[in-house]
Amino acid sequence: MNQNREINRRTLISGACALLALTGLGTLPASASNGIRKLSNGRVSVKLKSIPELASVGGTVGIGEVKGKPVAITRTGNTSYVAFSLSCPHQQVTVSREGNGWKCDAHGSEFEADGDLVLGPATKRLTRVPIKVSRGVATIG
Ligand code: FES
Repeated sequence: MNQNREINRRTLISGACALLALTGLGTLPASASNGIRKLSNGRVSVKLKSIPELASVGGTVGIGEVKGKPVAITRTGNTSYVAFSLSCPHQQVTVSREGNGWKCDAHGSEFEADGDLVLGPATKRLTRVPIKVSRGVATIG
């Protein structure tokens, strides 16, 4: 009886791990992974056209870590983009996508897609990260 229970628990845990691996939780967005490359200096390069989330103005996507911190890119115009940290300026909890913007689940701060502050307790927008775009490739960090 106890042996069957242990086997069922193992089956459940291994199934959950397989599901997490398939969904890519905790990694770069699957749709963006081919166009994102970590550079030796800690910066990240992004082939902008390879990321569907950035196909239209207002599109935003987390690109993983830049110099050890989670970062997102938002398209702000036909040829303009901003990059910003996903660490909440209130107490540095990582924010997540919510509607068209970002939200911090710790205390409820909300941000626009480009990181501008909508609702506190944070008192400022998500911190901008340097971004340079040349020939369709963004270098971030
Ligand atoms: S850490 Fe984000 S609102 Fe407090």
